[in-house]
Amino acid sequence: MTDLHTAVLDWYDAHQRDLPWRRPEATPWGVMVSEFMLQQTPVVRVLPVWEAWMERWPTPGALAAEPSGEAVRAWGRLGYPRRALRLHAAATAIVEQHGGHVPSSYDGLLALPGIGDYTAAAVASFGFGRRHVVLDTNVRRVLARLLAGQELPAPSVTKAERALAETVLPHDDSAPVWSVAVMELGALVCTAASPRCDACPVARLCAWQEAGRPAYSGPERKA
Ligand code: ADE
Repeated sequence: MTDLHTAVLDWYDAHQRDLPWRRPEATPWGVMVSEFMLQQTPVVRVLPVWEAWMERWPTPGALAAEPSGEAVRAWGRLGYPRRALRLHAAATAIVEQHGGHVPSSYDGLLALPGIGDYTAAAVASFGFGRRHVVLDTNVRRVLARLLAGQELPAPSVTKAERALAETVLPHDDSAPVWSVAVMELGALVCTAASPRCDACPVARLCAWQEAGRPAYSGPERKA
């Protein structure tokens, strides 16, 4: 464990939000549902919908047993309701191809309908404790700053970026918590618009800080 890891993990211990899908009792299905919901919707809006969803459909089989229109209805005001249809389709495939159990490997997850690299990596990691690089917007921004000295990552994930993320992913069973801790650092401190470097546990190790926080100058990007 390096200085970088200790600093980030200690910060996470002290500052993490208590989110139900991160608790030890959360099931892989609960993690999967949360990742579908969190893709385009903020945590505070996801929380009540996730709770109601898990109450009503605690397993993939429970969801798959109902018409997909019910999933869309329960999705409520989360937005982008196609995600509800994709989650229903994934639940159906889990029942038909995996006996109702969420597959635990990245490849098994990626083969499900409606699941891309990010969700497969997140569920393998947070749901099953697998070691896998997890690159969402927050993680990408933190690593771009910390390791590459860039204000923002490239418009889409590059091979070099994935390789760099791999170099700091712990090889022991702390890999998942490392990813979620970096994600939380991006959500709470190393934000896109107004990073709070004074509150950052790794500012002294940060390449972007060291370079004087230069503005982004890479390929054109939307955000
Ligand atoms: N914890 C695990 N995955 C998360 C996500 N996508 N957003 C916020 N918190 C999370």
